[in-house]
Amino acid sequence: MSNQRVVLVTGGMGGLGETISTKMVDAGYKVAVTYSPGNKTHQEWVTQMADKGYDIVAVPCDVADYDSCATAVEDVRATLGAVDVLVNNAGITRDMTFKKMDRVNWDDVMRTNLDSLFNMSKQVADQMVERGWGRIINVSSVNGSKGAFGQTNYSAAKAGVHGFTKALALEVAKKNVTVNTISPGYIGTKMVTAIPKEVLDSKILPQIPVGRLGKPEEVAGLIIYLASEEAAFVTGANIAINGGQHMQ
Ligand code: CAA
Repeated sequence: MSNQRVVLVTGGMGGLGETISTKMVDAGYKVAVTYSPGNKTHQEWVTQMADKGYDIVAVPCDVADYDSCATAVEDVRATLGAVDVLVNNAGITRDMTFKKMDRVNWDDVMRTNLDSLFNMSKQVADQMVERGWGRIINVSSVNGSKGAFGQTNYSAAKAGVHGFTKALALEVAKKNVTVNTISPGYIGTKMVTAIPKEVLDSKILPQIPVGRLGKPEEVAGLIIYLASEEAAFVTGANIAINGGQHMQ
């Protein structure tokens, strides 16, 4: 399938991001990813992907920093063209009980998981409106909907994601730009396998009716749908993909 649209996936080298990026290439998109400026293995990743047939442009970007986002998006525009689909996927956890949490752990998560939506969307939204087509897909979390033990920072930021989605969706709807949230549950990526095994086995897996972690490919499939022409009437939605863990 051929598709000239340009996709930018933040955190596109991470657990979920890599699968989203490669599946978008498979779907025919031109794909760029951002990676954290501290990532020393980014060139290796690009080469490995190229060896597998995935031609992906990678740009450094601290999504918590506005100017860094402006530079990254400009680089993508110069290399591939204007961004048609933005996937705000980059995110971090700093899990700990509220009692132990300090201001730094709070700020880091809010800046990376929530401020990033402003920083990145600001670089592309006006141009999407001018061109009369665009997709912004914000990756939230089941824990933004239901809360999670040890995640006051993360749950607050991820709940904020959907408020942002709904407001921006209203402002750009008439111009064929859709803005949606997806809320994945526990997906088999590094972020989840970093949870202490006994917590995962005793507290989390028993809450997932499907009886397993989700697969990155399942999340990528939903993103590909939201990016498609067929999804033009889906906007301001928050789509859960959590194996039945939380039903709204
Ligand atoms: N529900 C209820 N109680 C829990 C609990 C949970 N999910 N997790 C821990 N507890 C309880 C423990 O059983 C323990 O109770 P007791 O003192 O009575 O034994 C108490 O809380 C303290 O637990 P820990 O010893 O684990 O405390 P800690 O300070 O070492 O660690 C923690 C606390 C960091 C929160 C750790 O338990 C943890 O990592 N939990 C997982 C948090 C989580 O779900 N993160 C999601 C990451 S994946 C992600 O974020 C992706 C996504 O979008 C879904």
